[in-house]
Amino acid sequence: MQLSLFDHVKNVYSETSSPLDNETLYARVAARAGITEGELNTRSPIGKSGAPRSKLKRAIRWHQQTMKSSGWIEKTGDRGVWKLTRNGKKQLTKVSAKYSIVAFSTDLGVAIWGNCTNAFKNLNEKISLVLTSPPYPLKQSRAYGNVNVDQYIDFICSSLEPMIKQLKPGGSVTINLSNDIFEHRSPARSLYLEKLTIALSERLGLSLMDRLIWNCPNKPPGPVQWCSKHEHRFQLNYGYEPILWFSNDPLKVLSNNNRVLIPHTEKHLKLIQSGGEKRSADYSDGAHRIRPGNYSNATPGRIPKNVITIPNTCHSQRQYKARARELNLPVHGAPMPLALAKFLIEFLTPLGALVAEPFGGSLTTALAAEELGRRWIATEIFWEYLCGGAARFNNAVVNPFFSTVAKM
Ligand SMILES: C[S@@+](CC[C@H](N)C(=O)[O-])C[C@H]1O[C@@H](n2cnc3c(N)ncnc32)[C@H](O)[C@@H]1O
Repeated sequence: MQLSLFDHVKNVYSETSSPLDNETLYARVAARAGITEGELNTRSPIGKSGAPRSKLKRAIRWHQQTMKSSGWIEKTGDRGVWKLTRNGKKQLTKVSAKYSIVAFSTDLGVAIWGNCTNAFKNLNEKISLVLTSPPYPLKQSRAYGNVNVDQYIDFICSSLEPMIKQLKPGGSVTINLSNDIFEHRSPARSLYLEKLTIALSERLGLSLMDRLIWNCPNKPPGPVQWCSKHEHRFQLNYGYEPILWFSNDPLKVLSNNNRVLIPHTEKHLKLIQSGGEKRSADYSDGAHRIRPGNYSNATPGRIPKNVITIPNTCHSQRQYKARARELNLPVHGAPMPLALAKFLIEFLTPLGALVAEPFGGSLTTALAAEELGRRWIATEIFWEYLCGGAARFNNAVVNPFFSTVAKM
């Protein structure tokens, strides 16, 4: 009775785009559940005072409270009137602030339904890499919510602090962020990236290793307002996202470009075979010099540049989205391409290292780590994203307690 009544309450809210007062809610739930008006209004003594009240109405209000704590409904401001939140429309269930629950595990990792700030506090293993793409400080919030630009630095620092405390000497932190955050009503970009870089250095003791450029050739055009809507075409279309790379000990950093070498071109292989350069030349006022014999050593491959060109859609993402739809789950709106996560993990960690992903989403970082033989730990606040993420692994062992708690 309890569970099906909850489903009725949920369905009544889901089917209504406008706010609902409690009397309308009771009537609609009763109609759906086949409860007569008489049954709904039958009063019996309740609680210590023994005041006569409707037990059914009280049960409906309990379910209303469960929906509220899941972040599905919110008060409108009028007494007893509630409406669906954006998450409620998407049916995203947020973990209660108190809990960190193992959602599933694999041979190499564990996914936790929990808030990263709490969940990582009790970790007693050393992390080699934190690889993450947090919610961006966007004006137009995504389904999973976001933090505004003024609170952003504190939000990122407090979220990452427990992981940074557990970082191995020479461990790395890589954060994929947006370069396309603008000052209010202005084509000028926010300085939040610079402020965040300084805060991570001054507050959390990290050193900036690089601002990697993720060049996404298929990024949709924008910022529309400053590129094409305004009569002055102030800006160029965006095409990249920065990835800030930090380490707690630059001289011991665990990165190694030998793990991500690219095959040499035919032209370069011929140059090596022919004994290297024959020329002697100086370029850029002597900053770049070529001498006979340069490039004659056979090397295993080419060192990648710090501009990483990878499209922002990929086969793994398409598979994930199709499977999530099949399972009737909300599809994550901002998954990272698997190849990008794999590149960073291979470059920055040796085999068997522990990779942490605080803002798990569809668990791309976790999947990349698993496929590359690294251990991983990921947190995500929304149950449905974890369910979709679990479906990306063919060796996921789902915690039955997780499914039960989340569905209540
Ligand atoms: C940009 S998405 C990450 C996408 C992910 N890289 C992927 O490939 O799917 C950020 C995610 O962080 C989650 N999130 C936000 N705040 C969180 C918190 N405090 N703890 C854990 N997850 C959080 C959001 O629900 C969202 O799914």
